[in-house]
Amino acid sequence: EVVYLNGEWLRQEHATISVFDRGFIFGDGLYEVIPFYSGKFFLKDAHLNRLRYGLNQVHIDFDVSRLKPVLEEAVTKVKLGEQDGAVYIQITRGVAPRTHYYPENVTPTILVYAFPVALKGFDKRFVDVLITEDYRWHRCDIKATSLIANVAMNDEAIKNGFHETILHRQGVITEGSHSSIFFVVNNEVYTHPEGHYILPGITRKAVIDLCKKLDVVIHEDPLKIDQLSEVDEVFLTGTTTQILGVKSMIMNGEVCFKKQEAGEITKRLQHAFIALTA
Ligand code: PDD
Repeated sequence: EVVYLNGEWLRQEHATISVFDRGFIFGDGLYEVIPFYSGKFFLKDAHLNRLRYGLNQVHIDFDVSRLKPVLEEAVTKVKLGEQDGAVYIQITRGVAPRTHYYPENVTPTILVYAFPVALKGFDKRFVDVLITEDYRWHRCDIKATSLIANVAMNDEAIKNGFHETILHRQGVITEGSHSSIFFVVNNEVYTHPEGHYILPGITRKAVIDLCKKLDVVIHEDPLKIDQLSEVDEVFLTGTTTQILGVKSMIMNGEVCFKKQEAGEITKRLQHAFIALTA
């Protein structure tokens, strides 16, 4: 397996970083995951724009457009042929003596590699999710590598046989540990609005656009846990998740939502999404 590190493609075992890299020391870095279908990127510019936004927010000086040729190389180097995959990009502030403030004159560390992902078949799956409190920081719009809260929350789900953890802040459902969430009530779709409490998911945006195209009413309004009893359909979205129907939602051992099969609107959106990525 080869990876791109700071300007060169190296075998993974030769790609090493300093122990003083601020990504390692502080989680002081950002990342992106961009999917490709049969070798062709899907919504690449939207992903790069989100990365550019995050870098600006945390004052890491790097020109994202420099990644474009590297992304193309990544897909070629991984040799997946018609198989689908994704490219992982990580940009950290760089190497410097440990200080809590931003050091000056540091060169960001750039890591890029492609990996295979089974992006197809999501429409055949139907998953159970756990609901827990969202105890992340208040800048979830920044795709930071410091994901200790996300991994702790996801681990709780996986260890208990669930597919994903869904998060709530004071009863308001925000998103998943690594996915966005949508609800269908009376044939109208709801998802948490953009802002500091969710990552502005690229797949989320694609699904909002699909709703508009299919004349399905879409509200960017939050939904509370105590409204789940009125909900007809729930689905998750994300780069590695695609559009995934939710079978049940459990909180503290209590069933808040349960269905026997994926709903009609979920299925329509899944089919439209498959056509989009074909
Ligand atoms: N996760 N919300 C969170 C917290 C996420 O980490 C992700 C993506 C999403 C969905 O965003 P998008 O549609 O742009 O992939 C929402 C990536 C895939 C990851 O951490 O691997």
